[in-house]
Amino acid sequence: MPTMTAPTPAAPDMLERYTTKFAGSRRRFEEAKTIFPDGVTHDLRLLEPFPIYIDRQKGSHKWDIDGNEFIDYWSGHGSMILGHSHPDVVTAVQKQVERSTHAGGCHEGEIEWGKLVKHLVPSAEKLRFVGSGTESTLMAIRLARMYTGRPKFLKFGGHFHGWHDSVMPAAYAPYDGSPIPGIPNDVSASTVVIPPNNLDLLEKTLAADKDIGAVILEPTGGHWGAVPIRGAFLKALRELTTKHGQLLIFDEVITGFRVAPGGAQEAYGIKPDLTTMAKIVAGGLPGGCLGGRADVLDQISTRPGKPKMKHPGTYNANPLSAAAGVATLKHVATGEPGRQANAMGRLLRNRLNALFAKQDLAWVAYIDFSMFRLIPNYHGPRPGVAAGDNDGMIPYDGDMEKLDGPRDAKLGAAFRRGMLLNGVDIPGTGGWLSAAHTEADIDRTVDAVAKTIEML
Ligand SMILES: Cc1ncc(COP(=O)(O)O)c(C=O)c1O
Repeated sequence: MPTMTAPTPAAPDMLERYTTKFAGSRRRFEEAKTIFPDGVTHDLRLLEPFPIYIDRQKGSHKWDIDGNEFIDYWSGHGSMILGHSHPDVVTAVQKQVERSTHAGGCHEGEIEWGKLVKHLVPSAEKLRFVGSGTESTLMAIRLARMYTGRPKFLKFGGHFHGWHDSVMPAAYAPYDGSPIPGIPNDVSASTVVIPPNNLDLLEKTLAADKDIGAVILEPTGGHWGAVPIRGAFLKALRELTTKHGQLLIFDEVITGFRVAPGGAQEAYGIKPDLTTMAKIVAGGLPGGCLGGRADVLDQISTRPGKPKMKHPGTYNANPLSAAAGVATLKHVATGEPGRQANAMGRLLRNRLNALFAKQDLAWVAYIDFSMFRLIPNYHGPRPGVAAGDNDGMIPYDGDMEKLDGPRDAKLGAAFRRGMLLNGVDIPGTGGWLSAAHTEADIDRTVDAVAKTIEML
């Protein structure tokens, strides 16, 4: 078998097969293009020549409007740790929808939900529910500015924290600090960006700039582990931020309730000052949360003689999201969903790498907990089979440009189309496992990857 290097994207017969197999989706997309920019409602959902339209989902599977079945690795953009339409979540939401979908006031569900989050997340002394992950990081940064009186914060290149102005710099490749259209330079100037995993530079930057009041990061690495961060770096970061009087913000929108019931902070035994959450916290329904030190969160409280951070929000602690969140977090609390998703992640990584080695394909798979990645045109060593949830070898020695730099968009799209033709829906060259994924799913996925690479 010859070594496969650069696959040729978009073989014409593949496009033809795609267009035929997903004919119903093609028709919907023609209509969608007249309504939405690019025809889609989230950038990631765009796929040439058209994306597929999803009809229903159950467990680890989904079906499109043409009746095609897929194994799903979008997992609701990482939010469906129990898999789709878990019976307990469905029942909880059905019951709630009949009682009240918007309390227009306080409700018991928010208390039960808040108690569960507090119980699970080690650093959450107090918390506030918000409408999304983007809102949670917005709140964290504003509260940190108020608390420290310092206008700047530090983030790492390739770390994504939602799409509000101050967190967008260096969220996407290239990570060279180029200006972002629509975001005033004055705003970007208060966001200090350095590459991840460079402790020397971190130490120098935090010590030198007294205007930096906080550090925010995806604790297992940017873009949910594309460039993994390990415990030693987190520990040093905690020590440095404490030393310099800066708040440490863990963005656990993805890792929260996934890598461990209490998120990355539980997995690594590190206590951040603030934790941003969304996705799993609301059981896959819209919602988010900021938890953390009471003295920081209390700036939202009305306190005589002290400034208050205003915080309205029509969908804060929405009863439907609360019902789905409570039903999901009760399962998360057992530790089982995260364990199962991690185990399936390891299995997928190991079997894919075995395939690549056996067939001499220039690809590699790596994981961080239940989040996996594939890299094409790879010729280095691969992670060993016995590695655990988060101690596997990192390709390219963790080089950010190679792991998460600008990608060959044509190859990425061709891979996604090929995987769809082979019965797997994957957001790019990586995805999220859930507790509903089975060994049979993994075997079918490995088979689909083999067939897709052959098609390419
Ligand atoms: C780490 C991280 N933070 C924040 C967000 C933003 O969350 P939302 O899409 O709910 O606004 C995301 C979204 O994927 C994320 O991955």
